[in-house]
Amino acid sequence: MSSTGTPIAPLIQVEGIHTFYGKSHILHGVTLHVGAGEVVGLLGRNGVGKSTTLKTIMGLVHPSQGQVLLAGQQVTDLPAHKLARLGIGYVPEDRRIFRLLTVSENLRTGLDRAGVTEARKQELLDKVFAYFPVLAERRSQAGGTLSGGEQQMLAIARAMMLEPKIILLDEPTEGLMPRMVSQIRQIVEALHGEGVAILLVEQNVPLTLAASQRVYIMEKGAVRHHAAASDLKVDDPVIRQYLGV
Ligand SMILES: Nc1ncnc2c1ncn2[C@@H]1O[C@H](COP(=O)(O)OP(=O)(O)OP(=O)(O)O)[C@@H](O)[C@H]1O
Ligand SMILES: [Mg+2]
Repeated sequence: MSSTGTPIAPLIQVEGIHTFYGKSHILHGVTLHVGAGEVVGLLGRNGVGKSTTLKTIMGLVHPSQGQVLLAGQQVTDLPAHKLARLGIGYVPEDRRIFRLLTVSENLRTGLDRAGVTEARKQELLDKVFAYFPVLAERRSQAGGTLSGGEQQMLAIARAMMLEPKIILLDEPTEGLMPRMVSQIRQIVEALHGEGVAILLVEQNVPLTLAASQRVYIMEKGAVRHHAAASDLKVDDPVIRQYLGV
């Protein structure tokens, strides 16, 4: 509730979405929400529809039923570039780094169409370089020459250039060494500290429980469990049921 007693709409509200790829019915009524500044984990085994949920929120696929609201406004049928301008950042599973562009050029690509002045671009660049010193060191190096962890940082940094209210992060620690995993965790914490909301898709359960305030667990295209992260343990029966091997 706000100070005036009116209920505040969550930043992102996903209500009963059904998403198809051609004839394949992938999401069967996914419902979840993310509050302003909140870190929310989305867990589930391979193929349950986690990435499809993020793609549907981001307008890269459109649901056949259900809706997506941003701060209470209907955004279900908007295309991805409009959602990016409205404050939704997206870091896909495959990172989509431009391998031949330098680190700086990769970071600027997000701003090309946004009508941002050169001075403001420089300010934003300096800000993300302060967050990611390793990217500052490698600013003139081609994106494709970075390590996997550095490419993940570059992808997150690029999303930050648009100053999003929320970032949809798809398996940011997949395939990374433990040292890089803990750096990604620190970045999530730093963004949280700045009031940026995060919807964190992960298969790393300990990291997700540590970094999130709430978690949703998906199975077969739907959310099956929802809990405060502090109420779940890595060896919880619910975790074993939906995520155990
Ligand atoms: N472009 C596509 N066309 C057809 N089917 C797809 C497409 N993308 C994903 N799928 C299918 O949709 C289902 C859900 O995929 P999705 O990528 O959302 O799962 P996920 O939970 O992100 O899995 P992972 O943990 O492996 O990343 C899978 O069965 C997958 O094969
Ligand atoms: Mg996925």
